[in-house]
Amino acid sequence: MTTTGTPQRVVVVGQGYVGLALAMRAVEVGFDVVGFDQDEDRIKRLSAGGSYIEDVSDATLAGALATGRYRPTHDPGQCAGFDVAVIDVPTPLADGNPNLSYVEDAARILARHLRPGATVVLESTTYPGTTEELVAPILEEGSGLTAGADFHLGYSPERIDPGNPVWNLVTIPKVVSGIDDASLAAVRGFFDRIVDQTVPVAGTKVAELTKLLENTFRHVNISLVNELAMFAGDLGIDIWEAIDAASTKPFGFMRFTPGPGVGGHCLPIDPSYLSWSVRRSLGRPFRFVELANDVNANMPDYVVQRLVRALNRMGKPVRDSRVLVLGLAYKRNTADARTAPGMAIAGALADLGAEVQVADPHVQTDHVPFVIVEPSTVDVAAADAVVLVTDHDAFDYEMVCEHARFVLDTRNRLSGPNVELL
Ligand SMILES: NC(=O)c1ccc[n+]([C@@H]2O[C@H](COP(=O)([O-])OP(=O)(O)OC[C@H]3O[C@@H](n4cnc5c(N)ncnc54)[C@H](O)[C@@H]3O)[C@@H](O)[C@H]2O)c1
Repeated sequence: MTTTGTPQRVVVVGQGYVGLALAMRAVEVGFDVVGFDQDEDRIKRLSAGGSYIEDVSDATLAGALATGRYRPTHDPGQCAGFDVAVIDVPTPLADGNPNLSYVEDAARILARHLRPGATVVLESTTYPGTTEELVAPILEEGSGLTAGADFHLGYSPERIDPGNPVWNLVTIPKVVSGIDDASLAAVRGFFDRIVDQTVPVAGTKVAELTKLLENTFRHVNISLVNELAMFAGDLGIDIWEAIDAASTKPFGFMRFTPGPGVGGHCLPIDPSYLSWSVRRSLGRPFRFVELANDVNANMPDYVVQRLVRALNRMGKPVRDSRVLVLGLAYKRNTADARTAPGMAIAGALADLGAEVQVADPHVQTDHVPFVIVEPSTVDVAAADAVVLVTDHDAFDYEMVCEHARFVLDTRNRLSGPNVELL
């Protein structure tokens, strides 16, 4: 195969959390970048200089647009002529099974524009085998070319951690892989320009499994402390103090903390890609994942139960009680409320007849079906119970402690006689 020298023209398919951040960085290091997304509204917003991703500021976007080397588009025809294309589309679950239709659509579009010597990299999180068994045949069929012989193909999982002030797209080491040595070299060559450190692995399946291993590890450990928190509460032991004490061990322990449940695009989904794949290939369950799913999915209900018990102690039924939910995002200081426990908790309380108010300074609340408040001192004082779901730094915790009658704190952020920890 002949290659065309240093790749210059990059297409990033999907301009969401992962794809937009990558597009910005690729422009910064000198590539010509087409940011392709099928969502016309998103493209209009990007073209007008408005970012919808917290980690990409309007200033960064404006800078990229000003170079003339970043072109957001919803026209698939603009993907033509790429040297490197990166696929950053969603990989959700549908009825508990992987839904790879977005990846398939993206591969079909790229196949039409695939040229000899070009490189395609899948970054979306998925089960081992996707790049070779699903993406390669679509690219080959749509282009008439052969993977490896005519074009490079690889997988490189994204590890970005939205809202993390220390580790970002550039400083987080990046695992890279290819379907053969030349593909690995092409994928690595591209990401060596994007990130500080690349970590090559022997094949795409190893890279695919690496990402699922990382997220399953977190999922399982979070479920472990969540289950312990439920036991410890009943045993009258402070789980948070035990975790602090265990964290002083310099080796063999890693700190995980309990919470109201998991959310976002990764933990509630990715481990199920792995268990689905194990069951499909080997006919066996991945018991750790199934147990962790069960424990973590139950946490919002457990939080509601704790609130109901607390209200009961105050002589109040949950029906007609006013409950203020602080935080809808699944994670501190971020705007991502996808599959977040705050929504489930607020919804369950509303179903029980509570008068639910919600506050989240980060999340777009236009379509949230609850009363949205700032919250003011009056809102906090008027609530029969406050539940802290997401410990955004923007909340005024002193004010909450001073004015709330009762707070259920699921994050160990508050203290006082009116505060109960998860
Ligand atoms: N968000 C994170 O923190 C994170 C971290 C690591 C990995 N990931 C993984 O990265 C992938 C992307 O996640 P995300 O959070 O960026 O998703 P997202 O929903 O924020 O963005 C995906 C974008 O892809 C677009 N899209 C869907 N199908 C398309 C198609 N066929 N052509 C063009 N555009 C299309 C959507 O309109 C959307 O704008 C997922 O597999 C996710 O699991 C996400």
